[in-house]
This record gives sequence, structure tokens and C-alpha cells, in this order.
Amino acid sequence: MSILSGVSAFFGLDIGTTAIRLVELKGSGNVRTLVKYAYMPIDSKLVMSDAKGDQQRLGQSITELLNQANMSTRNVAVGIPSQKVFTTLADFDKLPIDELGKSIRYQADSLIPTPLDESKLDWQLLGDSPKEEGKVEVLLSSVPNSFIESRLDMLEAVGLNVIAFEPDNLAMPRALLPNGTTAPQIVIDVGHKSADLVITMNGEPRLTRAIPTGVEAIIRAAAQNLNIDEKQAQQFVFKFGLSKDKLEGQIYQAVLSTVDLLMAEIEKSIKFFQARYGNAPIERIIVTGGASALPEFPLYIANRFNLNVEIGNSWRNVAFSPDRQNELLSVANQFGVAAGLAEREE
Ligand SMILES: Nc1ncnc2c1ncn2[C@@H]1O[C@H](COP(=O)(O)OP(=O)(O)OP(=O)(O)O)[C@@H](O)[C@H]1O
Ligand SMILES: [Mg+2]
Repeated sequence: MSILSGVSAFFGLDIGTTAIRLVELKGSGNVRTLVKYAYMPIDSKLVMSDAKGDQQRLGQSITELLNQANMSTRNVAVGIPSQKVFTTLADFDKLPIDELGKSIRYQADSLIPTPLDESKLDWQLLGDSPKEEGKVEVLLSSVPNSFIESRLDMLEAVGLNVIAFEPDNLAMPRALLPNGTTAPQIVIDVGHKSADLVITMNGEPRLTRAIPTGVEAIIRAAAQNLNIDEKQAQQFVFKFGLSKDKLEGQIYQAVLSTVDLLMAEIEKSIKFFQARYGNAPIERIIVTGGASALPEFPLYIANRFNLNVEIGNSWRNVAFSPDRQNELLSVANQFGVAAGLAEREE
């Protein structure tokens, strides 16, 4: 426990499909300074696997990362991949906070897909319900205990002290949205196998989705449709992206239907959001993760939805020395989850 700030040091850890990433900040509230960030690629088979040996190898990679980054704290806030999390909005009668908690647990079985005694349930009071007068709106999230327990075992085995688990898509907006944003925003993190989407209002997550389309599917579509190997497909896809002019638009044509699967899910989410919140206009879409580096991908989304699209900057709310500007900006689309975890009030 630091005497000066009253906040003990910790770092954010994002165990992604193709890489593990960490961010440590110091300070609190809106002024936090970068202490360190680090990254280590991993075999995507490791994170998908429950096998003991694979979990151990994942633990070894984390140990290597911690050593390489020379971490001085063992306290960690850890992200939970969105595919493991169920989230939903529900309206409850207005009650004092502890009674509300009881009421939520009482009704949870009918709201979450897994039995309550096998799930870790979290909730966040958002405010008045937009649908029913006199009720309040609550964001519920649940994760199977079995997943949390196996992650905890793995992390404790490498000497870490887990101070919090948080779903990736609830952590991410903290880093990628400007402080004090009120208008609705969409954040979409297009990773290796899947994309995480979150729509926020008043800076708070309202709707989240895990979409089973990511960079891997886009590369695979290019490989299959152009009859080239995946390595070459990856090079082409990240070189030419969704440009209609490059290579006579061949890459664009090859990946279009896969990219449009993603667009259809974004569209559905916007419709769901607007049905609940009365057509509140979306101010912008922030794109992050691997696919945000695809040339003209953000532009494609902007044209599709007629909305402003930005590439997410993980360091948006973080102070650092100006001589690190170039280095940090070159990885700014990769650390949204880890930075969001590091920006927790804890
Ligand atoms: N500049 C680039 N050139 C080639 N490939 C890239 C580039 N940037 C990202 N990628 C590819 O993007 C994918 C990784 O994206 P990202 O790092 O967002 O995934 P992840 O965080 O590991 O996955 P997830 O968040 O879904 O768990 C990989 O397939 C990687 O090879
Ligand atoms: Mg990721």
C-alpha cells in the first residue's frame, strides 16, 4: 500500500489469443502516468485449451513477460475474454442498494444462461430505466466459475495476486473513450478469432457482444478466394486492406463477404441500442485490435454507417514523456484492454 496515494500498485493484464499484454500506470483518477507496458506473442492454441500442460505453458509465457518487463508489483487486474462472458441489461424496481443486490441475485437465474451457483455474477447500476418509469437499469454480467477458477489457479501458480477480473469489453472503453464522454459511442476490438463490441452511453457500457469473426477469418477468406497460402494472404491483406484500387481490388473482393458479416453484427447492435434508448444518435465508432491496422478498414466502416470512425488510442487518457510519442503510437491499437484494466479505480 502506497502511503502517498492510498492506492496499491497493480497492473492490467490482457491474455489475448495471439499475445499477452500488460500495462502499469501510476497516479489515480484522470491523471495517470505510464509506468510500463509489455507484450509477448503466444501460440493461439494455448489460450483456447483447458489442458493442464497448455495452462502451464501459458503460465510460463506470463512469467517470461513479467521478467522481461521487470515488474515490481504482483498485483494484477485481469481481463476475461468476451466469449466467456454473458452480459445483459435488465430493469429492476428502485430499491436501496443492498436490497437491489438481493433482488438481482433472486432474479438472476431467469436472466443469465448458467446456474447462479456455477457463475460469478457482477452488476452495475446504470441509472433510471429508459423503458419503465420507477425502475432502474442494471448491467448484469456473468462468467462460469470454472473459467475463473482455472485462470486464478494458473495466475497464482506464477506468483500473481489477482485483485480483479473484468470482462475485456467493460475494461476497454475506459482507455479508449475520452474522459467525460456522454454521447453514445461504439468501441469494436477486432482480434484474432473474434471481435468484441461495446456501445457506451454516458461513458458506461450498455450493450456488449462477442462476434465470432476476426482477423483470422478475413485472412482465410483471402487465402481461399485467391487460392494463395495463409502467410501470403496475411501479407496482402495487411498491405492492401479494403482498397478497391490496389491489385485491381482483388483483396477487397476476396474479403468483402467476411468483413460484411462483421458489419451486419454492428448494424444489429446499433438497432438494438436504438430500440432501447430511443434513437439516441451514435457519435462515433472507435476501432481497435489487429484489424484496425488493415488499410481502409476504418474508412469502410465509416462509409457503411455514415459515422465518424477513429482508430482507438490506448494511451488517450495516459500521460507519458513526449520522446516516447512515436514508439507508443505505433502500438496504440493493441493495448486497449490492458490499459483499460490499468485505469480501474483500484
Ligand atoms: N501489421 C500487421 N501485419 C500483419 N498482421 C497483423 C498486423 N497487425 C495485426 N495483425 C494480425 O492481427 C491478429 C491479432 O490481432 P490482435 O492482436 O488484436 O488479437 P488478439 O488480441 O491476440 O486476439 P483477441 O483479442 O481476439 O484475443 C493476428 O492474426 C495478427 O497476425
Ligand atoms: Mg485482443
